[in-house]
Amino acid sequence: MGESDKNMDQENKLSNNNGDQIVPPNNKIIERTIVKDWEREIQKGDDIEKYWAMEAEQLDWFKKWDEVLDDSEKPYYKWFVGGKTNLAYNAIDRWIKAEKRNKIAILYTNERGDEIKLTYYELYREINKMANALRNLGIKKGDTVCMYLPMCPELVISMLACTKIGAVHSAIYSGLSSVAIVERINDIKSKVVITADGTYRRGKIINLKSVIDEAMLQCPSVQTVVLVNHTGRYNDVADLRGNEIFYERLIEGEGDTCYSEIMDAEDPLFILYTSGSTGKPKGVLHTTAGYMVGISTTLRNVFDIHDNDLWWSTGDAGWITGHSYTIYAPLLLGSTTLIYEGAPDYPDPGIWWEIIEKYGVTKFYTAPTAIRHLMRFGKKYAKSYNLDSLKVLGSVGEPINYEAWKWMYEEIGKNRTPIMDTWWQTETGMHMIAPMPVADLKPGSATKPLPGVHIAIVDEEGVEVENREKGYLAITQPWPAMFRTLYNDEQRFEDVYWKFFPTGYYKTGDMARMDEDGYVWIEGRSDDVLKIAGHRIGSVEVESAFNSHPAVNETAVIGKEDPVKGQLIKAFLILNEGYNLSMPYKEGYTSTLREELKRHVRHSLGPVAVLGEMVAVDSLPKTKSGKIMRRILKAKEDGENIGDTSTLDDL
Ligand code: WTA
Repeated sequence: MGESDKNMDQENKLSNNNGDQIVPPNNKIIERTIVKDWEREIQKGDDIEKYWAMEAEQLDWFKKWDEVLDDSEKPYYKWFVGGKTNLAYNAIDRWIKAEKRNKIAILYTNERGDEIKLTYYELYREINKMANALRNLGIKKGDTVCMYLPMCPELVISMLACTKIGAVHSAIYSGLSSVAIVERINDIKSKVVITADGTYRRGKIINLKSVIDEAMLQCPSVQTVVLVNHTGRYNDVADLRGNEIFYERLIEGEGDTCYSEIMDAEDPLFILYTSGSTGKPKGVLHTTAGYMVGISTTLRNVFDIHDNDLWWSTGDAGWITGHSYTIYAPLLLGSTTLIYEGAPDYPDPGIWWEIIEKYGVTKFYTAPTAIRHLMRFGKKYAKSYNLDSLKVLGSVGEPINYEAWKWMYEEIGKNRTPIMDTWWQTETGMHMIAPMPVADLKPGSATKPLPGVHIAIVDEEGVEVENREKGYLAITQPWPAMFRTLYNDEQRFEDVYWKFFPTGYYKTGDMARMDEDGYVWIEGRSDDVLKIAGHRIGSVEVESAFNSHPAVNETAVIGKEDPVKGQLIKAFLILNEGYNLSMPYKEGYTSTLREELKRHVRHSLGPVAVLGEMVAVDSLPKTKSGKIMRRILKAKEDGENIGDTSTLDDL
C-alpha cells in the first residue's frame, strides 16, 4: 500500500456517530468518475432549460424539440415540446445498431440460483415479438396494459413492449392484494392483464394466479389475461379459462422486428399507483421524453455508470425504483442490469453478497430496511464473500440511519465505496437530492439537490425558513421527469401538490432541514403517509381496511418506529359491542379477533401492511368537525407534549 493510499484509508474512517461526520471521497474513485467536480456540475444546472436540453442531446430523437420547457399553464408543465421520440427505441433499438448489440442487457437470477441472460439483441427480439402480439390483441397507442408479475424477464419485456407501441403500462406490485388490483384496473380500465402463475419467495411458491382470478371477478374491462408460466405450475391449456392465454402461446409465430411508435414528448408512458393521505390510491402519470432524460442523466451522474458496470438495483418493478432505476435508466445507458427475484435472507442472509461475488456487481442500490434486516444476522455473511468488485453503493426509500449507513459502508463497501443516499419520490420520477461519488458525504443526509433541480425549505406560506430550521421541503422549479398529473384526478393533483404554497412550489410532503453546508436532512412526512419497510402506505387505507371488518366500528392508525422496518402500523380500534381483541373471533373459532383482523387487513392490502400493535379504545381524539387527530395519538405514543387540544372533541 502506497503512502497516499494509507492517508486515504485514514481519511475515510468514521470516528463518531453524531451523523454530521463528513466522509471525503476516495481519491481512486474520483480518478475514474464521469463527474469530477461536484459543485461545478451542480452549477451547470442553474439554468434548467440549458442544462436539461444539453442532457437531452445524449438521446435519440425522431424529431428534436421546438421548446425545452413550456410553463404557460402551471402546474401542467411540458418538457421538450414538439419533440418526437420513443423510450424503448432509446433503451434497446439504439444499442443493437452499435457495439452493445451482444452485451448482456438483463441478467436475471433468483433464490434457486436459476439464471437467464439476455443480450441487447436477444432482448430486442423478445420485446418485438411481444409488441407485435400486443398489437394483435388490439392494443393501440394510448391503451393501458396492467402487469401483475414478479421480477422476471417477461416483466421487463412486457413493459418495454408497451413502451415500444405507445401503450401505457401500469405495473402492480406482486405483493398487493386482489382488492388493490381491482381498484387499480378499474381506474384505468385495462383490456389486457399480464400475470404469472407464481413467484419464488423463501423456498415457497406464492400463487399469483389465484389472486388475479379473484380480482378478475370484478374487472369487466379486461378482455385477455396473459399468463407467464413462470414456476411451471400449469401443464396444459386445459388449465386455462376462456380469456386466458399462455405468454409463450401469445408470442408464438410473431415476427422479431417491430416498428417503434413515434411518440410525442408529452405522450403518457406509464401510470403507477402510490399511497397518499386519503384512502384512494393515486395514479401517478409519467410521460415520455422528460422522464427518459431525467432518469438516464441522474443514474449516470449519481452512480457514475460506465460501459463495464454491472448494475444491481434491488427495487421491485412494482414500485418507482424498479421502473426508473432497475429497468429503464440502466438500459437507456446501455448498461447491464441484474434482476433478482427473492428475499434478501433466503436460502441464507448471505445470498445478496454471494450474488455480488458471483457476478462481480459493481454498483449496488438498495433500501435501508433491507440493510437493517441483514445487520441482525451479524457480520459473518458479508465477510464470507469477496465484495471487491463494488465501486458505488446506493440507498433509497427512507432516511438511512447512522448505524445502517456505517454497517453498509464498513461491511459491504469495506470503507472504500461511497454511499449515494438518493432522495426522490414516485411523483418526481428521478433522483432529486443525491450526491455523486466525488461528493463529501454526511451519513444520513442525501446531500444536495442534483444539477437542474431546485429546492427550498419553506414555511406554510412558501417562504424560506430562517436559521436552518425545519420546514416543508418544496421544489421550486420544474424538472423533466416530473409526473404530469394524477390519472382521473386532476383536482387532487393541483390541490395536494401545487396549491398548498401560495408560491406555486411543488409540495413534496416531507419535512426537512438544511445545514450550514447546504446539506439536506429529511425529517419525516408532513402528511399521514407511513413508510413501512420502504413501502408507502396511507393511514386512511389501513383504517378503511380495519373498518370494513364487522367487528370494528372505527379506527385510527399511526406509524410506530421500528428498528428494522422503519415504521410499523399501530392501530387504535373502537370495537363493536360484544367484541374483544383477545377472545376467539366467533363461536367455534380458535383464532382471536386480533389474529382475524391481522388476516383481514393483510387480505385487503397485501403483506406490505405490516401490523405492529392493536389496541382497543373507547374513543378517538377528533376535531370538532369529526376528523381523527392522528397527530395527537402519535404524540402521546412518543411521550411528547400534545400541545393545544382546544379544537378537540374527545380526549
Ligand atoms: C421517502 C421512493 C429520506 C420520502 C423512491 C419520500 C426518503 C418518499 C428517501 C417517497 C431518502 C425516499 N431519504 N427519505 N433517500 N427516499 N424517501 O414514492 O418520505 O415510494 O417522500 O418513492 O420516501 O416514496 P416513494
